[in-house]
Amino acid sequence: MSTNTIDNSRKVTTRRLVEKKQRGEKISMLTAYDYSSAKIVDESGIDVILVGDSASNVMAGNVTTLPITLDQMIYHAKSVMKAVKRALVVVDLPFGSYQGNSKEALASAIRIMKESHAEAVKMEGGAEIRESVERILCAGIPVMGHLGLTPQSINKFGTYSVRAREEEEARKLIADAKLLEEIGCFAIVLEKIPAKLAAEVSAQLTIPTIGIGAGGGTDGQVLVMHDMLGINSGFSPRFLRRYANLAEIMHNAIGRYVEDVKSGDFPSETESY
Ligand code: KIV
Repeated sequence: MSTNTIDNSRKVTTRRLVEKKQRGEKISMLTAYDYSSAKIVDESGIDVILVGDSASNVMAGNVTTLPITLDQMIYHAKSVMKAVKRALVVVDLPFGSYQGNSKEALASAIRIMKESHAEAVKMEGGAEIRESVERILCAGIPVMGHLGLTPQSINKFGTYSVRAREEEEARKLIADAKLLEEIGCFAIVLEKIPAKLAAEVSAQLTIPTIGIGAGGGTDGQVLVMHDMLGINSGFSPRFLRRYANLAEIMHNAIGRYVEDVKSGDFPSETESY
């Protein structure tokens, strides 16, 4: 379906995502962190916009997602919310804002909802964060889970390689996914796990799974916008499909601008008052 024919009138809600799964319709999700790109992403017909803590990498230039703060996530979420009309907007709870205790987790989630007007939060982990997830859900805030490779735990894993290849970890992942569904999460991101396991988890749940590096058997897919548009050209894992090479387009355009300024070709008379 082209962008011109997308029905932009129906707002995407957590409930609509579950209905999509029931109908066997795939869910599209993409990150955005600012007003201008969120507007384009929303107008292109994306179902879910994730204000991901990957902003720590692609916006702030950090090596991991750990340094980004709650204030910074709220800043990004507020900018995105001003642009979005149709997509469901989910915001990552950043590292350190929910792992301490469940009261702190709820306070962090409430700040995101009150200050940014976003519609849901995402949290990394399973049984170990159960109490925090439950407390947030009790306050009426929808929670998206995130299992498999959880980048906020990179210092524990020591690597960004595929998770849950071994049976024990796969079993824990299935149990965590079922737990998150049981306590009321509306969807779960499955990051970098074997496609067979992701398909198995997806078949066992009634809530949708959104995969990244988890094969085609999940109920939806998510990518980081800067990666799929080729802005962040140094990152090319196997799961990433590049839909554009914006780094090259931007280099060319900015290079031409520099030349035109140097030569005096810009601005012309028609570009002057
Ligand atoms: O922060 C992020 O962009 C994410 C996606 C990779 C799922 O969590």
